[in-house]
Amino acid sequence: MSGNIIVKNAAQVVTCTGFKAKQGKEMSDLGIIENGAVIIEGGIIKEVGASRDLLETFDTTGFTVMDAANKAILPGFVDSHTHFVFGGYRADEFSWRLAGESYMDIMNRGGGIANTVRATRKASGEELSGLGLKRLDSMLSFGVTTVEGKSGYGLDHDTEIKQLEVMKRLDAVHPIDIVPTFLGAHAVPPEFKGKKDEFIDFVIQMLPEVVDGKLAEFCDVFCEENVFTVAQSRRLFLEAKALGLKLKIHGDEMVRLGGAELAAEVGAVSADHLLQASDRGIKEMAAAGVVATLLPGTAFSLKEDYARGRYMIDRGCAVALATDLNPGSCFSESIPLVFALACLYMDLTPEEALTALTINGAAAVDRAQTIGSIDKGKLGDLVILEFPSYRFIPYHVGVNTVETVIKKGKVVFTKN
Ligand code: NIG
Ligand code: FE
Repeated sequence: MSGNIIVKNAAQVVTCTGFKAKQGKEMSDLGIIENGAVIIEGGIIKEVGASRDLLETFDTTGFTVMDAANKAILPGFVDSHTHFVFGGYRADEFSWRLAGESYMDIMNRGGGIANTVRATRKASGEELSGLGLKRLDSMLSFGVTTVEGKSGYGLDHDTEIKQLEVMKRLDAVHPIDIVPTFLGAHAVPPEFKGKKDEFIDFVIQMLPEVVDGKLAEFCDVFCEENVFTVAQSRRLFLEAKALGLKLKIHGDEMVRLGGAELAAEVGAVSADHLLQASDRGIKEMAAAGVVATLLPGTAFSLKEDYARGRYMIDRGCAVALATDLNPGSCFSESIPLVFALACLYMDLTPEEALTALTINGAAAVDRAQTIGSIDKGKLGDLVILEFPSYRFIPYHVGVNTVETVIKKGKVVFTKN
């Protein structure tokens, strides 16, 4: 039957058990079951436990049965920060950066986000869907079963809506679940040059249509020097929140503006990047339960210093990890790269990094009740590794160790 599957005899089932974000020390608790099994019925996890106990008396009629001997079973990964719907590429800018130009210099002279905006405005919905589909297939091969995706490469009414509608269509046809975010305030488009407040007014005007059409669950903003100020971000957030959107922020990435503090003040679900987050901002995020979403692939690609992941966890924050897949600052959907960078350069343990990509990723998209762990009643989203332990992910550095991906109880990816 569809969505009925049993995976048994796994060397370990790493449940990452929990229904909310794990903060600080809790991030080390993985809830490992040795020689474990998972039973999924109708796409939902029905049982998880030791193979012997679970299967002794269980009638397997109507179930596909898979043997996972010498393999580890993990929850499907949640990539909680991406910009995967876009037109055009910026390989030339990457070379300029290697030659010494900064991301912000390129942006300030009309490249960067504006470059992708031009290409995305030109692309049809079909073209964007085709590109998005390929990127989703690649993410699936890395074990991602839920992804957050942002608009923000339109910066005009029609293209922002086009991006959000593409995500809605892709969500209906692709196994990966897509959580859409409205990032209308990603940069100032040429039409509004020198008129940032007017542009924020324009983005605010779009909010009711986004909400009524159920086109986004989150509202995000690029709060950064020379982009949007804390005051402009706050103004947008308060309007978005009043209409029922949840909040995310691109904050404290290049310059310490107080994005972390703003996230705590307005009750954002997550604050992302945070390379420059202050001690006070980190403390306030921990107290307010804001998920600190760290994007080490971006720091790596931009040759920036990494966010203070270790410090944040030691101060009681809930940390999530995500790829930030986008055509500019990090053109990578590689989960193993993010995992390894987090362990090697942000001093997360493999246990914390796994929590950050599962239950805390789920919390960063406000879905910790339904995904992100192998718990009874959650969606049957699993990853099976070709190795017996999650510890192989950072150790087999930069290489994909995912053998099989199960989404809602169906095998949706198998390595050849
Ligand atoms: O998350 N920082 C702002 N936004 C994206 C980059 C977008 C781009 O360069 O196209 C980010 O890194
Ligand atoms: Fe981003």
